[in-house]
Amino acid sequence: MSTEQGANSQNAPAHVAGLDSRFCDMNDAPLSHTIGPNGAKRAINLCAGQASLPQEVLEKAAAEFVDTDGSGTSIMEMGYRSKPFHRIMERAEASFRTLLNVPDTHEVHFFNGGATLQFAAVPLNLMGGENEGKAADYLMSGHWSEKARNEAKMFGKVNEVAKDPEGTYFSIPPASEWNCDPNAAYFHYTSADTRQGLEIRNFDYDALPPGVPLCCDASANLGSFPMDIARHDVVYAAAHKNFSGSGICYAIIRKDLISRKNQMKAMPTMCNWVKFQEAPNKIYNVPVLTSVWLGMLNCEWMIEKGGIPYFEKLAIERSNLLYDLIDSSDGFYRTFVTAESGFRSRMQVVFTVKTGTGDDIALVEEFLRETNDDLGWLDIRSHPLGLGHDVIRVTMYNHQTIDTITVVRDYMKKFMDSHNTGGEE
Ligand SMILES: Cc1ncc(COP(=O)(O)O)c(C=O)c1O
Repeated sequence: MSTEQGANSQNAPAHVAGLDSRFCDMNDAPLSHTIGPNGAKRAINLCAGQASLPQEVLEKAAAEFVDTDGSGTSIMEMGYRSKPFHRIMERAEASFRTLLNVPDTHEVHFFNGGATLQFAAVPLNLMGGENEGKAADYLMSGHWSEKARNEAKMFGKVNEVAKDPEGTYFSIPPASEWNCDPNAAYFHYTSADTRQGLEIRNFDYDALPPGVPLCCDASANLGSFPMDIARHDVVYAAAHKNFSGSGICYAIIRKDLISRKNQMKAMPTMCNWVKFQEAPNKIYNVPVLTSVWLGMLNCEWMIEKGGIPYFEKLAIERSNLLYDLIDSSDGFYRTFVTAESGFRSRMQVVFTVKTGTGDDIALVEEFLRETNDDLGWLDIRSHPLGLGHDVIRVTMYNHQTIDTITVVRDYMKKFMDSHNTGGEE
């Protein structure tokens, strides 16, 4: 490794820096990997994005990579206006629609630019024209709803409907306390926040003022529970968590909202839903072909596995492996979002050891050092959550395996047994 490369990787923040050792040097540590379907060692990949993908889909993609879909070209070199790619677009949309039961009233797009670009596209397409001067309602449920709100603030008035009074986002005030604007241009919420491990699976539709379009950033949990798409007007999700590779954002938009009537006058082309809708086969500029294609293979595979009911059952089983241990640990482990709140996430289990502060922080650091540095687990160290110290985060999107989470659970148990002095002191 050159000095220059070393200097760059050392500049990465601690929670993303990873380890210096090579994965193959850890082969002998049993809790450092799982064994995949073909006997290959698989890393304990707890990354929140790019997230782990199913080995079966990756192998299918590898087999079809050079001569994709019998086209004589690889997906990397396929013309975006070619018939083979248009066929892939159609199959990608059809499988995504089937998987999520998207109604005919809604359009599907694979926008370039990730979910972050849609943070701006939503206000740009919905707060202009006839909606000029209207505020947009934002339910504040964590770090990512702050990012979405901040983007909207650049374009118009934002009304924060509700916010955890503690400022930690470990809970959300009940819908009866929400301060909704009956004239809002739209209502926006984030269905799962990846930082504190909070998820909203039962949105209270009755709290929504009649006629206000409902928009959801479902990046972290789309496909893991039966979301009622018909009751939403806009649902968008970064593909790199639950579906495919990075660089695209899956968007489901009610057809009549893709219109010039509520668009802002100054509109970056990449945010303009109408321009993409009117382009041949909804392809306005060169899409991230590989992510559209991989998403297609993956959605088809998800349908074969049993669709949303299968992935919801898996999400429950997988997250309960850790929550059951945490809840029966007599205070040795603790989540921030409590079970009683009803907002505990199945996608990210975020926890600490004992109080996670003072002397106990040494235990958290020991846990992180052993799992990250000695066992090579990827992305286990979480952001400080505004608490001033790091915590532990285990990400388990749709394709996280039970085997991987079992390794995590077994390590947690071993760590607890070797440090337990009888619960909270
Ligand atoms: C809830 C949520 N929304 C949006 C994003 C941003 O997505 P992207 O990186 O595709 O812009 C993330 C993280 O990647 C996220 O966790």
